[in-house]
Amino acid sequence: MAEAADLVIFGASGDLARRKILPSLGRLVSRDGVSVRVIGAGRSQKSTADFREMVKEASTNQRLSATAEWVQLDYAEPSTFAPLKEMLTGSPCVIFYLATPPETFSEIVSCLAVGELSTKADASRRVVVEKPLGHDLASAHKLNRQLAEAFEEEQIFRIDHYLAKDTVQNVMALRFSNSLFEPVWNRTLIETILITVAEEEGIGKRAGYYDETGAVRDIIQNHVLQLLALITMEPPTTFDAEYVRRAKRAALRAMSPIDPATAVRGQYEGYLEEEGVAADSRRETYAAMRVSIDNWRWDGVPIFVRTGKALTRRVTEVVIRLRDAPTLRIGGRRQRGIPTLIVIRIQPDEGISIRIGAKRPGTRFEMVPAGMRLDYARLTKAALPDAYENVLSEVLAGGHSAFPGAEEIELSWEIVDPLVRSWEAEGHPESYPVGSWGPHAADDLVAAGGGGRWIVSGDEPGTA
Ligand code: NDP
Ligand code: BG6
Repeated sequence: MAEAADLVIFGASGDLARRKILPSLGRLVSRDGVSVRVIGAGRSQKSTADFREMVKEASTNQRLSATAEWVQLDYAEPSTFAPLKEMLTGSPCVIFYLATPPETFSEIVSCLAVGELSTKADASRRVVVEKPLGHDLASAHKLNRQLAEAFEEEQIFRIDHYLAKDTVQNVMALRFSNSLFEPVWNRTLIETILITVAEEEGIGKRAGYYDETGAVRDIIQNHVLQLLALITMEPPTTFDAEYVRRAKRAALRAMSPIDPATAVRGQYEGYLEEEGVAADSRRETYAAMRVSIDNWRWDGVPIFVRTGKALTRRVTEVVIRLRDAPTLRIGGRRQRGIPTLIVIRIQPDEGISIRIGAKRPGTRFEMVPAGMRLDYARLTKAALPDAYENVLSEVLAGGHSAFPGAEEIELSWEIVDPLVRSWEAEGHPESYPVGSWGPHAADDLVAAGGGGRWIVSGDEPGTA
């Protein structure tokens, strides 16, 4: 792109802008020579100089900060968007990035349309919407309709940054480019699937967003279900975006709405004392649940997913446990059974490992767990790109491969809505200690549901 694009970030004073968008943009500018002017927009009273300072600190890029601008506006009041409109006059490319809490998305899109900042069918005007898109199925549907009124589908980018992680994209490569895996990827040979998205950090200063949202809407509805769709979908016709979306839609359609009786919620000790959290908040910071997939490939396979803040450590991984081989006797003694595990580590220490049973070296025939590991970072000399670098360069180029479609998002809400409604209507989350793996009830949930136990590589013999 020769001329500078204008990237308008609504909610630019917030956590996402500071920790993800601006640092990634800084790297794109210095490494790839991307030409962008950042315009921060929001309710905060800031001078342009203040905002430039923030951009400089977050992006460590002088070029980006030197041209940055700040516009104060009210997300719900179209007349306050007039100075922004004026600033964008004559711009060759404008990207509106909604990096605010989801309850503001509808107001902002409405102001863009009423104030005539969005131009339908003009591919040089794009809108980027963060997850979670909506608060439930009804609000997501309404927002999708509203977006479609103001923009053509090619102008809309619905972000789920997990889809832009290289290791998530690699799930498709693993499954569909290796004849070793495809034959075992079904109910006949897979015993259970476990997904963990654990974070060590608490909610920090994000109570304004998080206390309205909670773990299910923040992580399960989007990141986890997208990951699970890639793990369980049928082979797409090609790897092109539209075919992958089709395959994911079919996978999501086969997932049953979550039954609250097979789910566990938790809240970390000290959450109620976090700045901005309601004193009597019942918001969950941890959620674990069984997901059932009613189709030919997965019928009856126990699938469990969990996520939480303030847990033992940061780790996102998928553990696939294959059905046990028969254990044989030697000298009258039954050999130790060692389940085969395929572990897809999304982060950190990105990679794939396979845990098998091997004979311990020596004169006795004795089985021990042993591992084989692909270290993803070793496949390239360059540093692995941050997901937001991938997302932003795709938006700047107008590509759609790393973004979920409107229907996938609505299907995901159908899956979690009954659970969220039930939790909001009654009961309390169980509290769990900071630095633990969450409520014990989540262990019972997996054991009772035929999933065995939660497994995280590193803690498991034979895994790295
Ligand atoms: P923040 O709580 O930091 O909010 C961002 C900005 O939005 C604030 O600085 C504030 O700006 C404005 N804002 C906050 N609360 C409200 C409110 N109740 N009503 C109106 N405006 C408000 O959130 P994040 O930056 O963490 O998240 C923003 C979006 O990005 C969310 O949709 C989230 O799901 C998504 N996201 C966040 C990630 C992260 O790591 N933080 C990662 C991936 C996605 P001002 O006061 O100036 O208007
Ligand atoms: C965001 C959530 O979508 O993902 C945050 O809103 C969470 O709560 C973040 O911390 C985690 O992203 P990553 O890429 O660090 O795993």
